Amino acid sequence: MALLPILEVPDPRLREKSTPVEVFDDNLQRLIDDMFETMYKAPGIGLAAIQVGVAKRLLVIDLQQPEEEGGEAKRNPLVFINPELTPEGEEKRLYTEGCLSVPDQYGEVRRPTTIHAKWLDRDGKAHGERIDGMLATCLQHEMDHLEGILFIDHLSRLKRGMLMKKLVKERKLREESSY
Ligand code: NI
Repeated sequence: MALLPILEVPDPRLREKSTPVEVFDDNLQRLIDDMFETMYKAPGIGLAAIQVGVAKRLLVIDLQQPEEEGGEAKRNPLVFINPELTPEGEEKRLYTEGCLSVPDQYGEVRRPTTIHAKWLDRDGKAHGERIDGMLATCLQHEMDHLEGILFIDHLSRLKRGMLMKKLVKERKLREESSY
């Protein structure tokens, strides 16, 4: 397995629209494993293939809620290939989102609470499920990446501007302190 570099804003590749996965070969399995390793190391709870420069409709998620009493976080790796989401009902949920491609910045995004998801797993097997809560939020955030959309696009222009300015400033400070 290998760690992959994560693209960050304003890298134009993050704005590409990803195309469906058609071949379930060893290269795909390796990419999935590398994406999990990269996501766990970051650390993050979701990663789309385009965030590591591969414009394919593939995303990995692990909400790995930490176990109580300071134990090891329990891993629950999920792979979604060529996912399709349909919102169910009118209810929306507000959640403070972050993104490995927009490091250390957070903003509140409102998304449908419940969705119906269809996807293929890493063996190409089809799944269909009703999903809500945190997984639904995360899945919709990752799904956006496949369309070249970032969570900051859901914020007001003012909020987005402030957040990008902060990101540039913090990035500059980080670079200066590494000399
Ligand atoms: Ni993201």
